[in-house]
Amino acid sequence: MLELITQYQTEINSFQSGNADEIEQFRIKFLGTKGLIKSLFDDFKNVPNEQKKEVGQLLNQLKNTANDKLKSLQDALENQQADQGKFGDLTRPGYPIEIGARHPISIVRNKIIEIFNRIGYVVSEGPEIEDDWHNFTALNLPEYHPARDMQDTFFIEKSDDVKKDMLLRTHTSSVQVRYMDTHQPPIRTISPGRVYRNEDISARSHCLFHQVEGLYIDTNVSFADLKQTLMYFTKEMFGKSKIRLRPSYFPFTEPSAEVDIYWGLETEVDYRITKGTGWLEIMGCGMVDPNVLKNANIDPEKYSGFAFGMGIERIAMLLYQIPDIRMFYENDVNFLKQFKSVI
Ligand code: DAH
Repeated sequence: MLELITQYQTEINSFQSGNADEIEQFRIKFLGTKGLIKSLFDDFKNVPNEQKKEVGQLLNQLKNTANDKLKSLQDALENQQADQGKFGDLTRPGYPIEIGARHPISIVRNKIIEIFNRIGYVVSEGPEIEDDWHNFTALNLPEYHPARDMQDTFFIEKSDDVKKDMLLRTHTSSVQVRYMDTHQPPIRTISPGRVYRNEDISARSHCLFHQVEGLYIDTNVSFADLKQTLMYFTKEMFGKSKIRLRPSYFPFTEPSAEVDIYWGLETEVDYRITKGTGWLEIMGCGMVDPNVLKNANIDPEKYSGFAFGMGIERIAMLLYQIPDIRMFYENDVNFLKQFKSVI
């Protein structure tokens, strides 16, 4: 028996082949159910007791050597086939590819765009690094205007000429100005984008967030058109069209209003987010101030229009009941994964 073991061991060690049939023959010969190693194991019972320990160890060793050899020959063969474009077992299950999730901010932005596209609004964009003229002055917010304080600004570069001061835009209303510079009425555009404000970061506010700006300019545009458009939007977005317009102030619109929607008080959460009133503020709006039209070389005697602006985070927080704005920017996969099923 010992002799046979040594003989097989040498034979196995020296065996080499890159041929699938030969490798299979090797397997059958040594490791098959009627193979040589199996028959040695069958004979093991005849080994005298005092040799059993030694022979047993050698037998196991032999079996391991044969298995290792077979595995390495099979691997080598598979690699060689893969190199030649033959990929082994093609029925093998594929590696699962995880489907990514769209960010909730993108989902809501796309939804807003889609709702306004349907009524003829086109998307426009502008730079995040903006000059004073487009962010403030052209919007009827000259230097030293107290309303500039409404938006804490990150200035990048101050120059002697205030119009040339560079800053991170504080709102997407700057895109209105850029759009009017290059287009004549009729104008129907929405401008989604990122904006920046020098604010303390908390559950409800951040120094970076997103807005969508809307602008409509044509002959005979009235406040009633604005209200109708907003009712259409809130119906499509939230399934609710009961809104109210509260008089407010923005330098670029006159009159100006803040838009509240009636959210209801059906749940504890509704109670909390509406502070027990059922009403919730969702955006600012108004009739474009004639000065803003003049600044963009549009004749205010001939044309009028309305504008509105809303925060995307705020709307996403409402829709998905997200309690803290910081969650949008933390890239926590467990948070983001929840939006997987939403297109
Ligand atoms: N730009 C304003 C803000 O960031 C929002 C806004 C209010 C935009 C009224 C408008 C508007 O176009 O008419 O707070």
